[in-house]
Amino acid sequence: MSVSAIRYYEARGLVTPVRTSGNQRRFARSDIRRLSFALIAQRLGLTLTQIETELATLPRSRAPARQDWRRISMRIRGTLRAKIEMLERTRDLLDGCIGCGCLSLDRCVLYNPVDRASRAGAGPRFLLGDRPGDFGPIGPRRAGGSQKA
Ligand code: FES
Repeated sequence: MSVSAIRYYEARGLVTPVRTSGNQRRFARSDIRRLSFALIAQRLGLTLTQIETELATLPRSRAPARQDWRRISMRIRGTLRAKIEMLERTRDLLDGCIGCGCLSLDRCVLYNPVDRASRAGAGPRFLLGDRPGDFGPIGPRRAGGSQKA
């Protein structure tokens, strides 16, 4: 991790080094874990506010123990699960219709006829968790809305 990144986290109060008589910073070994959590949490898309909130729950007077980190793990589990599911959908669906409204792929007529996925809102609905079947039967529509035989 770059010195500037460590200074940044220090300035945000995520780590609090002590100063030597020579005014050098000294970090506790447990700060390696705090900074590692901050680094990976940012890469996973957690906001700095989320990271600060979580790290603020850790004890300051002692090195955080396993149960301290377990509490954080339980709290962010839902966020991580949602990110994993989005990553899996993107991995599995990106070569097909993602329900974005472009109607540019041959599959769009099957999975998102007349961009009906837009009823659920903007963006690539099928990557965001909606399913083609949520908006009606899957398959090409005839003029007037009936299903092709
Ligand atoms: S990929 Fe955009 S609507 Fe199908």
